[in-house]
Amino acid sequence: MIEINGMSHQFVIGKKGKERIVPVLHHIDMRVEQGDVVAIVGRSGSGKSTLLNLISGYIRPTLGEIRVMGRTVTKLSEGEWADFRLDHFGFMFQSFQLIPSMTAFENVELPLVLKGVGLEQRKKRVNALLERVGLTEYASHYPGELSGGQQQRVSVARALVLNPPIVLADEPTGSLDSENERQLLALIGELNREHGITFLIITHDEQVAAVAHHTITLQDGQIRAQQKRGWND
Ligand SMILES: Nc1ncnc2c1ncn2[C@@H]1O[C@H](COP(=O)(O)OP(=O)(O)OP(=O)(O)O)[C@@H](O)[C@H]1O
Ligand SMILES: [Mg+2]
Repeated sequence: MIEINGMSHQFVIGKKGKERIVPVLHHIDMRVEQGDVVAIVGRSGSGKSTLLNLISGYIRPTLGEIRVMGRTVTKLSEGEWADFRLDHFGFMFQSFQLIPSMTAFENVELPLVLKGVGLEQRKKRVNALLERVGLTEYASHYPGELSGGQQQRVSVARALVLNPPIVLADEPTGSLDSENERQLLALIGELNREHGITFLIITHDEQVAAVAHHTITLQDGQIRAQQKRGWND
């Protein structure tokens, strides 16, 4: 599903003539199979968010290759990569990243609008998803009128509205209390089992790592360990 070979990444910071190189990821090789739930763990600054941004094509690796569902995405042009991203990835963030001036319905609808889907189909799809995440009654609420857990469920619905095979999540439970976190993890588990959606989830949280099939540990920009659940139980 996702295959990374010999990938390294460094950022260049500072003014022209005074550039400084910040090496972040070193020789990353990893494989993610379809239907996997993968937890990515590691200390602050170990390169977790950078790894997801590379996989989704928001930044390009300095070295190496990324293949997603058989396509070598690192060879795509910016425009091709934008289309590929819309068709293959859903995104979730710690800060939800909902648009405050849009209702829950409109936030979920947005990717469909970008994709050029007609109004009737949009309504059907958005309503089905809001129902799936238990927010039918909140369709006309603005993000500021929703609890944190409800906002995160809106962002789950938005992440799934185009039926992506892969969801990339950067600390999705990071700002939820433990009850909302438990609910979100249960929802992710159900979506994974019902639809075979592949999840890559960055987390500091033991609970998330416990529901994942695999855990990848990053340390100083390198993969220190890859653990498969079930080896010992
Ligand atoms: N755009 C950038 N320019 C320069 N350096 C960057 C940039 N983005 C990230 N870095 C550096 O890369 C390193 C890894 O950052 P990254 O955001 O991937 O860490 P992380 O594992 O997600 O950390 P956290 O758990 O705190 O979110 C850090 O040292 C950071 O300062
Ligand atoms: Mg991060």
